Amino acid sequence: MTTAEAIIAGRKEQLTREQMIPLLQEIQAADGFISTDAMVRVAEALETPVSRIYGVATFYNQFRFAPLGEHVIELCRGTACHVKQSLVLARHLKRRLKLRDDGNSADGRFTVISVACLGACSIAPVIKLDGEFYGHLTTERLDALLDEVDAKAASDEAAA
Ligand code: FES
Repeated sequence: MTTAEAIIAGRKEQLTREQMIPLLQEIQAADGFISTDAMVRVAEALETPVSRIYGVATFYNQFRFAPLGEHVIELCRGTACHVKQSLVLARHLKRRLKLRDDGNSADGRFTVISVACLGACSIAPVIKLDGEFYGHLTTERLDALLDEVDAKAASDEAAA
């Protein structure tokens, strides 16, 4: 049973179209993204066309349509970080990781998500890498962090 099926199964009788967004949010919280199958399941449950689910889901930039990579980078694009050159970091990540339109790196290992204020403006510009905050970032520090992730992956692979 898929996540969407499980989430829907428990409350099929009480679902209304107003619950479309909360349902999609719940599915994304569990799976990390909204699959085509999940959209079809939600459409069936709400007795509405899949195109409507797709239209609503793509309208909000909180929804993702591809699985998350092994490492998730939340790049703050809030005002304080913007003033401190977060756009330079965004461009650097795009180049280094060869990001696709869905925010995943070409090798699928990384996902970069642009977010509003991460609540750590005093150390702007900020990213969260796998849940850890890193502040006062420069492209050099960012490269060093990504090099560390790569080095750890290489040593884990060698040990396996
Ligand atoms: S604007 Fe980036 S942490 Fe607040």
